[in-house]
Amino acid sequence: MSESLTIDRVAIEGSYPSGGVVEVWTINRPNKLNALNSDVVADLKAACKDAEDDADVRVIVIRGASPEPAAEGKRQKPPAFVAGADITEFVGKKSKEIRAIFENNAWEAIWNLSKPTIASIDGFALGGGSEIALSCDLRIASTRSNFGTPEINLGLIPGGGATQRLARLLGYGKAIEMVMTGEMVSATEAYRIGLVNRLCEPDELQNTTMQLATTLATKSPLTLKSAKEAVRGALEHGMAEGLEHERDLFCALFDTEDMEIGVNAFLNREDPEWKGI
Ligand code: COA
Repeated sequence: MSESLTIDRVAIEGSYPSGGVVEVWTINRPNKLNALNSDVVADLKAACKDAEDDADVRVIVIRGASPEPAAEGKRQKPPAFVAGADITEFVGKKSKEIRAIFENNAWEAIWNLSKPTIASIDGFALGGGSEIALSCDLRIASTRSNFGTPEINLGLIPGGGATQRLARLLGYGKAIEMVMTGEMVSATEAYRIGLVNRLCEPDELQNTTMQLATTLATKSPLTLKSAKEAVRGALEHGMAEGLEHERDLFCALFDTEDMEIGVNAFLNREDPEWKGI
């Protein structure tokens, strides 16, 4: 793993099975507004594989490193979640080379995680950065954040999933406006249209994020996996097929210990102590 992605593990008290952690991934190139170069992309893909295989990881939070104080005489860099793919790496590339990079990409690796993912956004979430946020299940943004797909201004279109995920999340009208104009959407507007789930002041972002992560980390990891799979089904299937898929997942949970634990805990007015089986 390079220094471009820092991984911190925050222990969750009251998580069952015990030992549960929230993994916080910090994209760490603040001088380049955390733009996604090939190191970051490789690290994100590796982190996805490791997190998927590690039963202790219950929730993943993705954030961008905060700007460092400006050197004397230099302009202060603005806060950023991620200001997009690293544009310098586009120079001189042709379709064959780009296809090889984008076919097995970090956005899909994040999207395909079976565990809950949260994008914790402070500042610019542009291009590939907005796509990282869209690949997460939930988005929390500070009030000074801005979202956008400015690829049109580079003679490009989004290549990390935004045309599809924006259209599904916001509807065709807003997605086509964002992709064709490349204009930014403010955090308040993003909250209003459902692009972000929660909005808070910058100094509350960490707490708000960890509160939500903790809420998720204290559910049954097994049940969360089914929940994610069922709701994802709505994006992938027609209504009848999606309902059948939901019913299959729902019924299968009746054969798990966690369902017995949850129901008994409710009836006995106790907190459930999940086993994850
Ligand atoms: N790729 C590579 N470098 C980037 C970058 C990106 N996507 N976004 C920002 N940077 C770099 C800048 O080149 C600059 O580097 P430098 O200080 O070494 O010159 C540094 O990050 C700070 O950015 P700067 O443009 O000076 O900040 P700003 O406050 O004037 O503007 C933005 C902020 C976000 C509006 C502007 O950086 C921008 O438009 N970035 C590109 C967004 C984009 O098109 N993303 C989609 C890419 S597919």
